[in-house]
Amino acid sequence: MRIPLIAALCLLAALPIRAQTPAQPARLGLCAACHGANGHAGVPGVPHLAGQRLDYLRDALKQYRDGRRNMPVMRAAIGPVSDAELDALARWYSAQSPQPQGNP
Ligand code: HEC
Repeated sequence: MRIPLIAALCLLAALPIRAQTPAQPARLGLCAACHGANGHAGVPGVPHLAGQRLDYLRDALKQYRDGRRNMPVMRAAIGPVSDAELDALARWYSAQSPQPQGNP
């Protein structure tokens, strides 16, 4: 009887950690070419995004999409995405560790 209880407690303890790691967004592949999948950009001149504030990332992406930030590369990359997709991308990059992990 003890083992199932311990297993259940471990599962409960792990839940908040799992909730903080968002699912990988469908559009991440395109962004990863420049910003890296984990937000550590491998391309010179491209900003790192890992660990950046969620509200800042979300606003920046909306500004590229709506043309308030008129930067052709990013405007082309972001395209006509929905608020939900922007939110998923912002959450993903915000949740990544700001420390480079083998991919500076
Ligand atoms: C071809 C390379 C390229 C691709 C692909 C690309 N980006 Fe960018 N991104 C850049 C560059 C260069 C900048 C800096 C632009 C500027 O000066 O405003 C930037 C800026 C940003 C910023 C603002 C960072 C800041 O500190 O203000 C965010 C957020 C961002 N990109 C997210 C994304 C996401 C999400 C995707 C995928 C949909 C993506 N990017 C695809 C090159 C790229």
